Amino acid sequence: MAGEDGKDKAAPAAAEGQRKLDRRDVLMGLSTVPALGLFGYAWRKQNQVKQAAAQAAVAPREAAAAGDVKEVNVALLGAGAQGQVLTEAMQRIPGLRFRAVCDIWTEYNQRRVVNTLKRYGHEVNGYVDYREMLDKEPAIEAVIIATPDFWHAEHAIACLKAGKHVYCEKEMSNTLEGARNMVLAARETGKLLQIGHQRRSNPRYIHCHDKLLREANLLGRIVTVNGQWNRAVAADLGAPERYAIPQATLTQFGFKDMHQFRNWRWYKGLGGGPIVDLGSHQLDIYSWFLGSNPTHVTASGGLLYHDPATHEWYDTVMVIFDYMTPAGPAKAYYQTQTTNGSQGYFETFMGDQGTLLISESELNNPGSIYRDPNAPAWDAWIQKGYISAPVVPEEKEEGASGAIADVRESAAPDRHKVPITLTDPYHQPHLQNFFDAVRGKATLNCPAEVGYESAVAVLKVNEAIEANARLAFRPEDFRVGGTA
Ligand SMILES: NC(=O)c1ccc[n+]([C@@H]2O[C@H](COP(=O)([O-])OP(=O)(O)OC[C@H]3O[C@@H](n4cnc5c(N)ncnc54)[C@H](O)[C@@H]3O)[C@@H](O)[C@H]2O)c1
Repeated sequence: MAGEDGKDKAAPAAAEGQRKLDRRDVLMGLSTVPALGLFGYAWRKQNQVKQAAAQAAVAPREAAAAGDVKEVNVALLGAGAQGQVLTEAMQRIPGLRFRAVCDIWTEYNQRRVVNTLKRYGHEVNGYVDYREMLDKEPAIEAVIIATPDFWHAEHAIACLKAGKHVYCEKEMSNTLEGARNMVLAARETGKLLQIGHQRRSNPRYIHCHDKLLREANLLGRIVTVNGQWNRAVAADLGAPERYAIPQATLTQFGFKDMHQFRNWRWYKGLGGGPIVDLGSHQLDIYSWFLGSNPTHVTASGGLLYHDPATHEWYDTVMVIFDYMTPAGPAKAYYQTQTTNGSQGYFETFMGDQGTLLISESELNNPGSIYRDPNAPAWDAWIQKGYISAPVVPEEKEEGASGAIADVRESAAPDRHKVPITLTDPYHQPHLQNFFDAVRGKATLNCPAEVGYESAVAVLKVNEAIEANARLAFRPEDFRVGGTA
């Protein structure tokens, strides 16, 4: 967020910080260093941390300008909403040459992406059948898969077996069997398989995981986690009559009709409903940040609002996971609902010394960390630039409502910002990581095995709702073929 850019805001914020500090030195908890000196130093350090993150992001572009990047031939398989978002992000990554676009909706999505890529100078051919594309385009080195979930396993395995590296969107597969076979295919072929949990490459998430949680242990012992993805009611997706796909083609590719083709997420056997579609991103972060996979899941869900004739999966899901983390037991709550978008999406990790509130969104809750009053001072981490100085709260309208606070109420914890902003499209760093790995310059941030662990946790939620029971995971459930 521009507003969190230390460069722009440092001067006025420092002045405000000094004024408030005189009155609120307890809140600030900064007793050892003269306040302004520390703040000025801390802002410089934060800028250094931010600049390092920004430089890491532009480094490949600079390398390309210097002619130092090996060209990679790419195909897109699935040119719908997400395929287009990924294509846009890939346009910003140097050294990619698009060769083919495969999509069964020839008159709409396929044409649109082919035309866009041609405008940018790529010589691309369009295909309906991925097998024909693989036969006729031997130069392709990497395939980006953004088809509906129930196609992922077949598409990814075929591409891997044809010798291509694969970036496959989440959910890895709509079935565990499919996901397992994808892991095996990646192992057998030795080709790369990155799963599209893009937060794993987001510099803010990496900073929080590596620096704030692991190195500084700012939260202390994490005992509870809370997260949500709330979405407002939205009309079903439609399609202009003149672009309707012939019924024979729909049937051939597993869709009952155009409505199901457009709204596949809501149908059993095709997608997994909102908990899989949305929840998979955030539940993946739960396991990553907690450093362990869940041991149990308890869930409640239902189709409370939408039309069952066109929505088979649950529109409302509330779930609790149990974890046994390296530091001890933890419980994590998650909800997704599609009838009210209030407060959008975020994850909150609560430890005995602090709370991290984070989101992929650069607009809402991008990153705040709250120090519990009983935690040791965080001065050193402010000085290192890992977190901002405490944010001075807005002045309350004291007495305006005549309310009297109970004396036993906990004091509000200090809020610090996480000083990392992603200025590229959200998916770009994860794609960049994939292509860096293709070029032998990085390891994948979300390889097949990690995507599989996430799929095991997420797909079990629907099972728990159906069973109306608390279900257990065994550690071996998260592994394919007995290896970690
Ligand atoms: N990482 C993220 O943030 C994110 C966001 C949205 C969607 N996704 C994922 O991306 C994937 C696609 O989602 P979407 O929203 O773009 O869906 P979509 O329905 O908009 O697009 C799917 C495209 O695939 C094409 N298609 C369907 N079956 C095909 C087949 N057998 N062969 C070739 N083309 C086929 C369709 O014609 C359509 O153009 C899903 O797995 C979804 O979960 C990820």
